[in-house]
Amino acid sequence: MAKIKFETTNEEVELPDDSPLAEACEEAGVPFACTEGVCGTCVIEVKEGKENLSKPTQEEEDFLGDGCSEERLACQCKIKCGNVVVSF
Ligand code: FES
Repeated sequence: MAKIKFETTNEEVELPDDSPLAEACEEAGVPFACTEGVCGTCVIEVKEGKENLSKPTQEEEDFLGDGCSEERLACQCKIKCGNVVVSF
């Protein structure tokens, strides 16, 4: 099991390994619009456990740049395993 913690709300959600983050993020209150990685509405900031997320998609690289930032698009990324802390 993997776990995502929302710093903003102090909520923790357990997810099976390799799950998309979208549903848990939506329930926690992250806004979504296109769900296709083009609008940037769903951007989240990864505070801890960046290495436990899937590699940025092409859409994320196009929107967020070179991948050095702590930002990810919640509609695009998956949690691989372990713990991840995000804020939005
Ligand atoms: S909802 Fe548009 S980029 Fe994620």
